[in-house]
Formats: sequence, structure tokens, C-alpha cells
Amino acid sequence: MATINKNFNKLKSGYLFSEIDRRTRDFIEKNPRVEVMRLGVGDTTEPLSPTIIKGLSEGVKKLANIKTYTGYQDAEGKEANIKLLTMLMSFYKTRNISLNMQEIFINDGAKTDLANIQSIFDSNNIVAVSDPVYPAYVDTTVIAGRTGEFVDGQYKGLVYMECNEKNNFVPFPPKQKVDIIYLCNPNNPTGSVATKKQLKSFVDYAIKNKAVIIYDAAYCEYISNKSLPKSIYEIKGAKKCAIEINSFSKSAGFTGVRFGWTVVPMDLVIEKTKKREVNNLWNRRQGTMFNGASNVAQAGALAVLSKAGLRESKKMVGYYMNNARIIKKNLLKIGFKVFGGENAPYIWVKNPKGLSSWEFFDKLLNETHVVGTPGSGFGLSGEGYLRLSAFGHTTDIEKAVKSIRDNFKL
Ligand SMILES: Cc1ncc(COP(=O)(O)O)c(C=O)c1O
Repeated sequence: MATINKNFNKLKSGYLFSEIDRRTRDFIEKNPRVEVMRLGVGDTTEPLSPTIIKGLSEGVKKLANIKTYTGYQDAEGKEANIKLLTMLMSFYKTRNISLNMQEIFINDGAKTDLANIQSIFDSNNIVAVSDPVYPAYVDTTVIAGRTGEFVDGQYKGLVYMECNEKNNFVPFPPKQKVDIIYLCNPNNPTGSVATKKQLKSFVDYAIKNKAVIIYDAAYCEYISNKSLPKSIYEIKGAKKCAIEINSFSKSAGFTGVRFGWTVVPMDLVIEKTKKREVNNLWNRRQGTMFNGASNVAQAGALAVLSKAGLRESKKMVGYYMNNARIIKKNLLKIGFKVFGGENAPYIWVKNPKGLSSWEFFDKLLNETHVVGTPGSGFGLSGEGYLRLSAFGHTTDIEKAVKSIRDNFKL
């Protein structure tokens, strides 16, 4: 008799966005003539740039020709794959980071590997996450059986690294010994970004404790402040303890195309492993369970990594960051206390008058018709905050901000 993975029963997932939808639908039913403006979603909205579209189209055309047709991606060879890995290596080289080809694994977006990477670690490993944080790290840890039950807003056995105004929403390394640390930098949902010094404290901790950092760099291209690190490997010693996962979802609009990569350095060692061993494990896992990103997406990725592609992608990031500036500037003017939004596409709004996240969500929806994301949905420490997203058309963002300005009763 087949039985289910009972860890799924512990999950409290699905609550946040389904509850947002439910409340928004309720509001629309009661107010059918009102236009609801969504600043809650972290999905890209602008079309892909011309160079990338050309790259994708060429990828499709190759599939129509017997001479250029390709099937499975082969991790060991194939020209296109080698070219792509070489370009990714050059991409890191511009940040003075040297990687070899075997250290980079192509994936179909960051989320897949952020979850799957857990499969190469022992089931007894203790996991630490920032609080608040991108919910996928928590849910995948629960599904993998590395937590107990959900009690009073937190999972037993999971270590929460609190992010608050005092630490500017960048956590300190855990006080106790943990084995796996998820770091999201820039952070979703708070929009905070760690300094080199702050990241170094995590690298030092990981080396000392033979822990591994799973570094999610999905928003790194939103960092414009040159003193802030975009990759964990800018920190000395990070290759010994960190796996970096990234994608072109947010930096090139690939949320629907699906392309990313994971770096597992040869130097990475954890408890009872030698150099190369963790890299070999991941290679083994991927060889068994993954058949590569779509070859059309890979053609698009090659185009992203071209000079023109990088330039155009930077422009797209600039477009969203302009939205972030519009939101932040206006909310500050109105009198809100606001964080993030400077090197990240998320604005973290402190709820006025001690309102809870859901109370503020309702007030914003009822008075201004703007939908945000309640901070409490990202963890206990997110209570009392609301996330606004800079992804959207500027005209819509301006309209939403104007409505908040004109209608919100502070
Ligand atoms: C912090 C973070 N990491 C990863 C992802 C998923 O990225 P991808 O589209 O590459 O799977 C998201 C998506 O919103 C995210 O916010």
C-alpha cells in the first residue's frame, strides 16, 4: 500500500497567496466598479529585450533544421553547453571570481535547485533561515523532513535568524550550531542587502562549523551600490562553504522562459567530506534526476550573456528600480516608514499605528484599492509589515501610488 510523505501534512503553505486572493475577490465582489491595483506580486511584467528574443528565435529555428537540431543537454560536452558555461565563467570573471566549468550546473530556474540541493545532505542536518524570508526554503525543509510540527507560527527544529529594524533586516549568524543556512541576498521580502562584512560573518561561521551556505542570488543584479557584494564568492573563503544559486528570472525577465545555474565549488567541504566530494554528489544527483534546461532557453541565455543582452537586461532592471524609487519616495512623503527598495525590487513598509500585517492589507485594499503582501506571510518577524513589489508597468505603479497618496487615511 502506498502512503504519502507525511511531512506534507505539516505544511502551512499556500495560505498566504490564497488568502490574498480570497480577500481581493471578496472586495471586488462588493465593489465591482473599482479597479484593484496589485503591488503584491514578484513576477516580471516587461517584454524580453530584442537581443534575447533574437537568441530565443534562433534557438527555435535550430530545432527545425536537421543540421542544427539538438536533443538532450549533455553535461560532459556539446558545443552549445560548453559555450554557455564559458560565458557564465566570464560573467563571474567580471567580478574577479574564477570558476571552472565543472563547478557550474545549468538549471531551469533557481527555485528547483534551492529545493533539490537539500537531497545531497543528511536528513538530520539542521537548517537555518532568515525570518522573514522567501517561503520556499522553509517549505522544502519541511517536505524533506528536517523540521517538526508548526507551533505558534514557527516549525520546531528549524532555526530562525531574526531580521528586524535593529539589524536593518540582515540577520546575524545563528548562536547555535546549524548545518545548512539559506541566505537570500538581496532579501525577498524585506529588500535588505548584506554588506561584505555581514556576509563574511556567515562565511566565518560556516567554515568554523563545517556548515554550508545555500546562497540565493536571484536579485543580485538589482544591487547598484558598488560596495555591496553581488556574489557570495566575493567574500574570501566562500568557496569552501557556499553554494550559489541564481537565474535570469528577475535579471532578464526569464520567469516564464526558465533558466538558471548553481555553483558548487570543488573547494567546498562539509563535515567528513574532502574537496570535490560535494560537487561530485550534486553532479551525481543531477545526472540521475535532471535532463537539463530547455535548449531554447539556453539559446536565450547565451543571448542574455552577450554584450547587448547584458546591456538590455540592465536597462530592464533599471526600469523596475525606477518603479521602486517611485513607490519608496512617495510612501516616505506620505509619512510611512519604509525599508528596502534601493538595491532590491521590494519595498518593506512598516504598518502605521501598530496595525497587524493583515489589518494593514485590508485597510490598504479598502481605502486605496492597492493589494500588497502581508509581511506575516513570510515569517513571524514579518508581522507588522507589508511588502510592495516594484514589478509592474510604471503607469500602473504610478496610479497605485497616487491612490495611496490621495486616499490612505494615515
Ligand atoms: C528569493 C527568490 N529566489 C528564487 C526565486 C525563484 O526564481 P526562479 O524563477 O529562478 O525559479 C524567487 C522568485 O520569486 C525568489 O523571490
